[in-house]
Amino acid sequence: MNLVEKDQKYIWHPFTQMKTSGPALPIVKGEGTLLTDESGKSYIDAISSWWVNLHGHSHPYIAQKVFEQMQKLEHVVFAGFTHQPAVDLCEKLSRHLPDNQAKFFFSGDGSSAVEIALKMSVQYWKNKGENKTRFVALEGAYHGETFGAMSAGARSIFSAHFSDMLFESTHIPFPKEEQAAIQSLKTEIAKGDVAAFIFEPLVQGAAGMRMYDASTLNKLIQICKKAGVLCIADEVMTGFGRTGTTFAVNQIEAKPDFICMSKGLSGGTLPLSLTSCTQDIYEAFLGDDIHKAFLHGHSFTGNPIGCTAALASLELLEKKECREAIEKITENHKAFTEQLGALKVIEEIRQTGTILAIELKSDRSGYASKIRQKLYDDFLKRGVLLRPLGNVIYILPPYCIQEKELKKVYEVIQEKLIELSQN
Ligand SMILES: Cc1ncc(COP(=O)(O)O)c(C=O)c1O
Repeated sequence: MNLVEKDQKYIWHPFTQMKTSGPALPIVKGEGTLLTDESGKSYIDAISSWWVNLHGHSHPYIAQKVFEQMQKLEHVVFAGFTHQPAVDLCEKLSRHLPDNQAKFFFSGDGSSAVEIALKMSVQYWKNKGENKTRFVALEGAYHGETFGAMSAGARSIFSAHFSDMLFESTHIPFPKEEQAAIQSLKTEIAKGDVAAFIFEPLVQGAAGMRMYDASTLNKLIQICKKAGVLCIADEVMTGFGRTGTTFAVNQIEAKPDFICMSKGLSGGTLPLSLTSCTQDIYEAFLGDDIHKAFLHGHSFTGNPIGCTAALASLELLEKKECREAIEKITENHKAFTEQLGALKVIEEIRQTGTILAIELKSDRSGYASKIRQKLYDDFLKRGVLLRPLGNVIYILPPYCIQEKELKKVYEVIQEKLIELSQN
C-alpha cells in the first residue's frame, strides 16, 4: 500500500465529505510558501495552512531554536513549575498587547484559549458573588470547536447537530450595521446577566472574512466597559500581523479584558495557545480558598518547545523586514483589486491588512455553497492552495510570500473570476 492508500485505510480527516472529497494530498516537504507533494509538484500556500503560518514552512531559525530547546527540556508539568521559554514569551508578548494585559494562561489550541476565557469570565463573577452566565457575541461568530466555543459562536452548519446541547448566548447584529449592533448590545447588557462580550476583532474568519470598522469595535467595547461587562477579544485568527498591526485590537483605544491567541502564536509550527487577561481578573481568583482558584489545566500546558517556537516566531515578526513584508502584501492586495475592475461574478471585495476576500455572487452563500469544492480543486490544479469559505475566495498568506508567488495567486484568481463572469 502506498501512503495515500494507507491514509485512506487509517485516517479520518477534518472537514471532508467522506464520499466526494478526493484522497488527501501527500505532502513531503514545506519550504517558505511552498508545499511539495510526493510527485514533486509544488503548491503556493496562500492560506498559511489554516491561518497558522507566518514566516514560511520549516523556517530554519525556528527549527534551530526548537532543536536546541528539545535537548534541554522537552516538557514539564506547568502546575507549580516554570521555565525560561514560557516567561520570556509572555514578557515579550506583553510589549505588543494592550497595556492592561497582565497575566497569561497557556493551552494548546484556539478553541481552548476561548474556552478558558469563557470559563474565567463566568467564574470571575461567581468569585465576586454574582451569577452572570450569558455571553453576547456577534452574528456570524466562530470561536472554535469545543462545546463552550461552539455555544458562543453563531449557530451554523458547524454546530447544527449539537444545537440542543449548547448553552445560551445572544448574537447581536454584525457591526457593519453600527447602530443596530450598539442598540442590541445595550439592550442585552440592560438585562443584567451578561458575563462577557466576545468578538473576533475587525475580521470574522470562518464566517467568510467578514470585516468591520475599528471605530465601531471601539464603541462596542466602550459600552461594555461602562456597564462593567467583560470583553473577550478572540485574536486566534487576527493576531500576529494579519490585520496590519500585531493585534487587531492595537487599532483601537478601548482595551479588552481577555485576549485569546493561537495559530500564528507559534508561527504555525506547534500547537500552542494563550489567554491573556487583566490584573483585575487575576485578582478575583486570588485567595486561600481553593474554590476560588481556576481549576483548569491541560497536560501540555506551557510546553517549552511550543513556547520556544513562539518566541522565535515573535522575534522574526519584530524584524523590520517582516513589518515591510506585511505592508507590501497589503499594498499588493490593494493594487490587485483596483485593477480587477468590475466583473459580473463579484459581489464584494474586502481587505483588512494582509487578508483579502472576494465574495462571489452565488445562489447559495455560506460554507455549503456548491462552488467551493470546484474552486478549491481548480486552484490546486494550478498549484495554488486556496480554500474558499463557501462563495468567498480569500488570500491570507505567510509574510514571506515572494512577489512572483503573490502574482501567480492573483493571476489564478483573476482567470477564474473572468471565466465565471463569462458563464
Ligand atoms: C477566531 C477563531 N477562534 C477560535 C478558533 C479555534 O481555533 P483552533 O482551531 O485552534 O481550535 C478559530 C479557528 O479557526 C478561529 O478562527
